Amino acid sequence: MTATAPTARTEARPLGLAVVGAGYWGPNLVRNFQAAEEFRLRWVCDLDLARAQRVLGEYSTVSATDDYAAVLADPGVAAIAVATPAATHLEVALAALRAGKHVLVEKPLAATGEEGRLLVAEAERRNLVLMCDHTYCYTPAVGRIRELVGSGEIGDIQYVDSVRINLGLVQKDVDVLWDLAPHDLSILDVVLPEEDRPIAVAAQAADPLGVGHACVAYLTLRLASGAIAHVHVNWLSPTKVRTTMVGGSKRTVVWDDLNPQQRIALFDRGVDLSSPDQLDAGERRELMVNYRSGDMVAPALGEKEALRAMVEEFAAAIRQGRAPLTDGRSGLRVLEILEAAAQSLERQGALVPLPSVQRVGVAW
Ligand SMILES: NC(=O)c1ccc[n+]([C@@H]2O[C@H](COP(=O)([O-])OP(=O)(O)OC[C@H]3O[C@@H](n4cnc5c(N)ncnc54)[C@H](O)[C@@H]3O)[C@@H](O)[C@H]2O)c1
Repeated sequence: MTATAPTARTEARPLGLAVVGAGYWGPNLVRNFQAAEEFRLRWVCDLDLARAQRVLGEYSTVSATDDYAAVLADPGVAAIAVATPAATHLEVALAALRAGKHVLVEKPLAATGEEGRLLVAEAERRNLVLMCDHTYCYTPAVGRIRELVGSGEIGDIQYVDSVRINLGLVQKDVDVLWDLAPHDLSILDVVLPEEDRPIAVAAQAADPLGVGHACVAYLTLRLASGAIAHVHVNWLSPTKVRTTMVGGSKRTVVWDDLNPQQRIALFDRGVDLSSPDQLDAGERRELMVNYRSGDMVAPALGEKEALRAMVEEFAAAIRQGRAPLTDGRSGLRVLEILEAAAQSLERQGALVPLPSVQRVGVAW
């Protein structure tokens, strides 16, 4: 896209928007887009018209409809937010892009990598913003971890460990990996430096209930630097755990999303190898390790709602003609890991290389 500098007038004008899908998650988008001054919500569209009307209430000036074609034909709509089931994302989002609208799609970007690639290609061909709502990436905690990694404060990444387990709703159509791991994988995608992204994945899983797909799963991701990242997702755990640990050569950051007093803890504790360059091979085998036992600090975090920050990023990307933090390619990388993990499961946990999706910070 040749980004034309927006005039003061266009900058001040809110972007017309429609939310498609008013089921469980759609109302959260409706609430946040209505609260955002960058957007003017014009439509809520659902195949079930009564549902769309219920979300808006009796006195709303926003139009409820079950006619998606009418929404797409509205020249006042610059952007569409898609909150329909994943199996419909390709159809709904592709139609929006072809109508020249910027698109926000709920996670996962699409039902398969192939579908995700079609969406990314269409958006790039048309110079439109395609964004995936990986909501966790917009939490203050993930923002802080990104800063800590990006600034070099934690040093070289040595390992990542992410746990998302609880007594979860056993889904009929997707396994635990497709249900829960997109959160961890999208967080990894925005936290890890570009040159340290996953290059291969191995998966192990079990279906102890006999529901026909995995209820407990472990992913091991090989990062480009040689470090590893581990993701554990489980619907059967009696305790709820939501922790992500990023171990670095200088510091280790631990995020516990269930501990509001101390969501993030930064540890100056770890293991150093003493003067490794001055050791010969025999001495190195002796493993001359030093244990570092420094402070732990719990940085203060804001309490901004992640969806609000996500909506702001969508508006900024449209205004500035740039890719958003969780762009279509980011959504596609998550899909490709999930597909490679499924292949790994079929091959008894073999390490499966990931397709290389080149990241383009600004695709136009
Ligand atoms: N970001 C998050 O944390 C988060 C949380 C929950 C769900 N989600 C995602 O949100 C999406 C929707 O999930 P949900 O739980 O709200 O589903 P849902 O089944 O509760 O609601 C989907 C709605 O879409 C409507 N719909 C289906 N096809 C349509 C079409 N072609 N045109 C218009 N309306 C259509 C249905 O009538 C229904 O009202 C999924 O992609 C899901 O993964 C994201």
